[in-house]
Amino acid sequence: MNVIPSHLECVRCGKQYDLSKVRYNCDCGGILDLVRDFSKVDGQELKALWESRWGTKRGLYSSGVWRYKELILDIDEKYIVSRQEGNTRLYPAGKAGEYAGLKNFFLKHEGENPTGSFKDRGMTCGVSAAKYYGAQQVACASTGNTSASMASYADIGGMRSIIFIPEGKIAYGKLSQALAFGGRTLQIKGNFDDAMELVQNVCHELNIYLLNSINPFRIEGQKAIGFEVLQQLDWEVPDWFIIPGGNLGNNSALTKGLEELYKLGIINKIPRVAVIQAAGAAPLAKMWKNHTPYERVMNPETIATAIKIGNPISWEKSLRGLKWCNGVVEDVTEQEIMDAKAWVDAAGIGAEPASCCSVAGAKKLVDAGVIDPEAKVVGILTGNMLKDPDAIIGYHKDELGALGIRGTYANAPVVIEPTLEAVKAAIK
Ligand code: F0G
Repeated sequence: MNVIPSHLECVRCGKQYDLSKVRYNCDCGGILDLVRDFSKVDGQELKALWESRWGTKRGLYSSGVWRYKELILDIDEKYIVSRQEGNTRLYPAGKAGEYAGLKNFFLKHEGENPTGSFKDRGMTCGVSAAKYYGAQQVACASTGNTSASMASYADIGGMRSIIFIPEGKIAYGKLSQALAFGGRTLQIKGNFDDAMELVQNVCHELNIYLLNSINPFRIEGQKAIGFEVLQQLDWEVPDWFIIPGGNLGNNSALTKGLEELYKLGIINKIPRVAVIQAAGAAPLAKMWKNHTPYERVMNPETIATAIKIGNPISWEKSLRGLKWCNGVVEDVTEQEIMDAKAWVDAAGIGAEPASCCSVAGAKKLVDAGVIDPEAKVVGILTGNMLKDPDAIIGYHKDELGALGIRGTYANAPVVIEPTLEAVKAAIK
């Protein structure tokens, strides 16, 4: 399959498998990584090739994922299902930077992807792999964004999509996308973790291709977030990346990609990575901070519904990456998430609640003295602001009291009489 020789390898026991058959788990139960043999790869040549593709107007290399094809998935173009994903902006954080107490803070807006989240980067790769393996049906469990993305890419790839979502717990922007793209949407009476368990059984029993981030090809595509940030920074490595953590695939992808660039000599410094979880759904943060063994959280709760996950599938991959980069894990409260969101939004950038863990976490880590205020920091905003308008309205109308969240920085709408006097009074 790949031009650079590669195989699947268990993150737990190291057992190797070739790519001839579909596989998500090792016989020991561990999850799998795509591992490449870099012995004959010239990193500088690769970097020059990627630079030559920057700004390509049409075709495969106009995608911000497939620009890095050699380290994504080197399959024949006829299998590739792409929406020119990636190519998202890297913004100076503005007011959100002041809020976090950082002078050199950038926000990588993955909500600018075709379906409004970073999932499109993993999905273009995952759905292409599905096509390569001849799958006709694909499935995922989702808190919303994965399903929206999968349904769209499956449409383009000519596949049927089957979606497992926790009942009544996903943001409407996301549910509406899944329905509109025609995904067969099954609302599970249970939470995301229940849906995740179910979808793995279903895919195994019914021979449906599984597109959660347990799928190693999803992870390969998501590595491109880090690649693109570095290319946007002319390969100058920031001191920190800060990224929200839910099912823990995305941070695993980030560190895997960075490690590959480092091995190839494309970067010569290792940035630190901070993974931020919502306090009500923070099994990794708990384990990290208390130095205790992994333990799932039974009833995860957070307004950041995208990351309302108690038993993240990629926790082992996540830890491995964090150890490599001397990373940290932090958790943030509901109030901290929504206040940070108010600043991301007021900065004119805007993102959904889960995304704003990056900024809430930045502030917390700066306040704690872990991140230097002068450090160069890149926060990943994972999803579009319009995914979850209910959370925005609730905060600005200060109607989230039942969730223990106050509209600290609320910008409430005002009702006035239709007169000049009333307008004057209202805008003075
Ligand atoms: N931010 C957003 C907006 C997400 O949708 C997700 C995950 C994350 C962060 C966390 O990323 O799981 O790789 O640690 N959403 C998944 C979904 C679970 O189903 O859409 P992660």
